[in-house]
Amino acid sequence: MAFLAMDDSFIAGLPKAELHMHLEGSFEPEQMFAVARRNKADIPFASAEDVRRAYRFSNLQDFLDIYYRSADVLRVEEDFYDLALAYLKRAADDNVRHAEIFFDPQTHTARGVAFATVADGILHALKDGEARFAITSKLILCFLRHLSEAEAFATLKQAEPYFDRIAGVGLDSSELGHPPSKFARVFAAARSHGLKLVAHAGEEGPASYVWEALDLLHVDRIDHGNRSLDDPRLVARLVAGQMTLTVCPLSNLKLCVVKDLKDHPLKRMLDLGLRATVNSDDPAYFGGHVNANFAAVAQALALGKSDLATLAKNSFLGSFLGDAEKARHLAAVEAYAAAPGTNRIRREP
Ligand code: ADE
Ligand code: ZN
Repeated sequence: MAFLAMDDSFIAGLPKAELHMHLEGSFEPEQMFAVARRNKADIPFASAEDVRRAYRFSNLQDFLDIYYRSADVLRVEEDFYDLALAYLKRAADDNVRHAEIFFDPQTHTARGVAFATVADGILHALKDGEARFAITSKLILCFLRHLSEAEAFATLKQAEPYFDRIAGVGLDSSELGHPPSKFARVFAAARSHGLKLVAHAGEEGPASYVWEALDLLHVDRIDHGNRSLDDPRLVARLVAGQMTLTVCPLSNLKLCVVKDLKDHPLKRMLDLGLRATVNSDDPAYFGGHVNANFAAVAQALALGKSDLATLAKNSFLGSFLGDAEKARHLAAVEAYAAAPGTNRIRREP
């Protein structure tokens, strides 16, 4: 049946922030081969097409296994610089004006790569990316939740010289069996240093993990948060606090969090008054960057121009930018959405 969908050109021109993207998840197979060649590192695949064929996941752990293995070819500062610069260039093409980028230092330090090698390479690229592509950014250090509290504390210690250049800490990796409570003391320490706090919760894990992220970790944002909709009292709490949810539709589809994008909760989230945003999570693995995520949900959920503008505004409201920068970006979204010629619709077969 035919239905109306926003023209993708509206999405392409919409100014937006990306708040949930793992740098290691932007590692495209072609770049992986180039870096592996440079470092004389082995890849257990014959070609980039071969790598892409392996990207069939039935849950989060399936994906994480291959994601950590691919990161093994990243060895020197230049590798992290190239990875971050490539992401910023690609994000700027999607009219991302500001990106808050996750990195997983433990994936690298566990292999003998120094924390400074990783952080210096990324930070150098963020500086160059702003000058070259007019995209601002902030860096968020994620703790791997399948590792111990002690290992997270050791990583926080390694990050200390970078506290002036790292906006915050997050929590990612295997969610089930690793509740936020495991990291309450590490997050309290990070908070005492003035760092912002985010955590993956309610992706595969239950609504109780979202409660824990709020009440025990005191997070500033929830990454994913899909399972919050199982608990009306939690929804009320998230709406009342205008807590940002960094939602990742194509990730949810690829990791079987939803069976079909038509079942995706994003539209329900918006209708409930939740501050939802759209993000790519791991764009090299899940079939697209942020505009592809916008386009896919716009089509599957018949989102209109005002929903899309709300999502873009939410991305700036939920960012860790200062008030003046937020106001400038919000005004740009409003001006764009109100401009004639951004209102086209097309009929989908
Ligand atoms: N690391 C990279 N992507 C992730 C995701 N979607 N969930 C948890 N950890 C991740
Ligand atoms: Zn994620």
